[in-house]
Amino acid sequence: MLSFYTASAFGLCAALATATTASTVPATNEACQCTFGTLPVPVDLEIPTHPENGLTTTDLRRLKAVYDIFGVFCQPKEPFGNSGSSQSHLEFSPILRTASPDRAQLLLHGSTYTHQYWTFPMNGVQNYSYVAHACLQGQTTFAYDQLGVGLSERPRTSKDVQIPTVAQVSSYIANRLKDGTIAARFGLGERRFDKVVGIGHSQGSTIFNYAAIVEPTGTGLDAMILTGHIHDPGFPISSNAVLPTPAREVNPARWGNLDPGYIATPNRSQFYSADTSVFSQDVFMLDTLTQDVSTLWYTTEVLATYRPARGYTGPVVELVGAMDQLHCTDPDDGGKPCDAHALQIFEAPFFPDSRNFTAVVREGSGHDVNLDFGAAETFALLSHLADTLV
Ligand SMILES: *[C@@H]1O[C@H](CO)[C@@H](O)[C@H](O)[C@H]1NC(C)=O
Ligand SMILES: *[C@@H]1O[C@H](CO)[C@@H](O)[C@H](O)[C@H]1NC(C)=O
Ligand SMILES: *[C@@H]1O[C@H](CO)[C@@H](O)[C@H](O)[C@H]1NC(C)=O
Repeated sequence: MLSFYTASAFGLCAALATATTASTVPATNEACQCTFGTLPVPVDLEIPTHPENGLTTTDLRRLKAVYDIFGVFCQPKEPFGNSGSSQSHLEFSPILRTASPDRAQLLLHGSTYTHQYWTFPMNGVQNYSYVAHACLQGQTTFAYDQLGVGLSERPRTSKDVQIPTVAQVSSYIANRLKDGTIAARFGLGERRFDKVVGIGHSQGSTIFNYAAIVEPTGTGLDAMILTGHIHDPGFPISSNAVLPTPAREVNPARWGNLDPGYIATPNRSQFYSADTSVFSQDVFMLDTLTQDVSTLWYTTEVLATYRPARGYTGPVVELVGAMDQLHCTDPDDGGKPCDAHALQIFEAPFFPDSRNFTAVVREGSGHDVNLDFGAAETFALLSHLADTLV
């Protein structure tokens, strides 16, 4: 049986690895090879001195730093596509197929999650790992922990972790996938990826979206698949009302020394459908146990992404669950499930130069489209799009 690393084993090995360089994940997964470690990421930009006032302020300060960003790089063990490839792969999955070796997917998690959103550890059950799914399709992925989150460096002040800062981080990483820096650093030799497809979830999607607005030709992303993300008018209101609880109050033992701009979301139910029959309570419990932090400044700055990404020409897909409590059934938006046709019309103007914008709605899913009983279908769709959009 194919099993991905478990939460505890992975956390331990990963913590050791950051002290050295990338090393191979001792997973029992035969078809997939993962390496992990940190990448130094430079940022140099002007950000609001007081992010509580939003991004339109003219009171700016310069932030120049190099941050260690933790990532997991996974790829099929052997290049797929050679006919007569070894049988050992076939016992794991009958659906292996050829994927372009020249492309990689950059995976960016949502608020209060880590890269584990994409490798969701479920007691050896592979159902919820998009990374494992993609690998079995012959696809290469790089999932990283956001600045300040998980095993990535956490700035002393939360006010360094703002939308413009992390957008620069994501664009830097995407471009280092292209120029071969990441493959070399993660022990995979000379590997340049001609095409990088960004797959974000929620806040991760917001960051890709913001990067497309401020540097449409510099994102390093040839296409974007934005899950759990639309520009509904209610979101800036509801996310403020529901999300931010200072992390140090939520878990003093773990986060007691963080400034109150570092926030947590102790009640995870808004990330799932209100209909509890469409997801596993075990997943919900593990989600709660593995939650991490975010910062308040994403919410105070999110309105900056409510404008057209002029000049971004790559294909864009927005994918939401019809029962997304933050975006689709929120009373501030009318409390209706999302409708694909209406969303297509409403959302397309935010990507006016995209050569193909598509809104997709997954019936029955909540906000976390990777973590409910429909996950396998979500994964099949994401893999397919990542291979065919560009
Ligand atoms: C995982 O998927 C299998 C078959 O696809 C299913 O039988 C099993 O219940 C799923 N496990 C969980 C925890 O959802
Ligand atoms: C979590 O929030 C939901 C509303 O989103 C509420 O119904 C539920 O009672 C809350 N759970 C706890 C444990 O507070
Ligand atoms: C646009 O992308 C969608 C997938 O999101 C695809 O089904 C459709 O064929 C594409 N349209 C064009 C004109 O390429």
